[in-house]
Amino acid sequence: MATPLILLVFSSVLLWTPSISLSDGLRAGSSLSAEAPADVLTSPDGRLGAGFHIVGQNAYSFAIWFNKPTCSALSCTIVWMANRDQPVNGRSSKLCLLRSGNLVLKDAGHIIVWETKTVSATPLRLKLENGGNLALRDSVGLLLWQSYDSPTDTLLPLQPFNENSNLISTRSQGNYSSGYYKLYFDTDNVLCHLYKGPEFSSVYWPSPWLLRWEAGRSTFNNSKIAVLDSLSKFSSTDNFTFLSADYGSNISRMLKLDSDGILDRIVKKRMVKLGLFHG
Ligand SMILES: *[C@@H]1O[C@H](CO)[C@@H](O)[C@H](O)[C@H]1NC(C)=O
Ligand SMILES: *[C@@H]1O[C@H](CO)[C@@H](O)[C@H](O)[C@H]1NC(C)=O
Ligand SMILES: *[C@@H]1O[C@H](CO)[C@@H](O)[C@H](O)[C@H]1NC(C)=O
Ligand SMILES: *[C@@H]1O[C@H](CO)[C@@H](O)[C@H](O)[C@H]1NC(C)=O
Repeated sequence: MATPLILLVFSSVLLWTPSISLSDGLRAGSSLSAEAPADVLTSPDGRLGAGFHIVGQNAYSFAIWFNKPTCSALSCTIVWMANRDQPVNGRSSKLCLLRSGNLVLKDAGHIIVWETKTVSATPLRLKLENGGNLALRDSVGLLLWQSYDSPTDTLLPLQPFNENSNLISTRSQGNYSSGYYKLYFDTDNVLCHLYKGPEFSSVYWPSPWLLRWEAGRSTFNNSKIAVLDSLSKFSSTDNFTFLSADYGSNISRMLKLDSDGILDRIVKKRMVKLGLFHG
């Protein structure tokens, strides 16, 4: 009679992967598995997590999300993805921090779908920092790579947005692949919003029929920096600013480029929406 119980305990011990402690990040030579739901990096304040997130049938992307409000497979506020245009298989896929310093995402069959191309003679550590930055640093804290430098459709508070950054919307609600809307600094130092679809592309914000100064923009500052502060004021060096309606209240925020596909709806709506989360 006791046999089934013993077998059960035994097999669950076998399935239980030797624990790598993730509380202080991912060490060189170790990996996170798409098959292990516990393989998640959590920010020290507990507000954000990073791990494999399901994006379709047996399709996963390595993502960063808000833990609050509740984050389940179907309703998770994703703020970044490593491989949104090339999801990996739910079995055998891994994010590996190699001893060489490279952080690689391997699909089943060891195909590399994404990598940081970092190199280091000393061991690196990958951590999800407060604020949602996934950072690869060496033992003295020197930064070799960070997710803040390659945003997807979301800008987090204090995450710098510059001339090398852009936000690209998702394809649709529920499909995280790159979509048609883009926010970027144009060569004349002005923050612009572009629609680039399969058939045509057009800048419609600021309005192409207005001169830049008529739209309230300045072309003089070539530093091209925009930031969302922790109280929800967004400001850009082209003199574009906006405050969200609840500016100053104490909630988690982000700036997300909407995936709404219909052009005239976007033109009438505000260009970006502020996602507000209690956290
Ligand atoms: C998302 O959209 C892209 C482009 O249309 C498509 O190739 C992909 O299969 C879609 N993904 C899902 C999960 O539906
Ligand atoms: C920036 O905008 C403010 C008002 O919104 C205006 O007074 C100021 O002259 C602008 N600065 C530049 C450099 O255009
Ligand atoms: C450009 O913007 C930066 C950041 O806001 C500011 O420090 C700098 O003084 C500005 N430069 C000019 C010429 O206005
Ligand atoms: C904001 O909320 C956090 C966590 O809920 C708390 O630790 C912090 O003191 C709050 N700050 C203010 C200014 O209320």
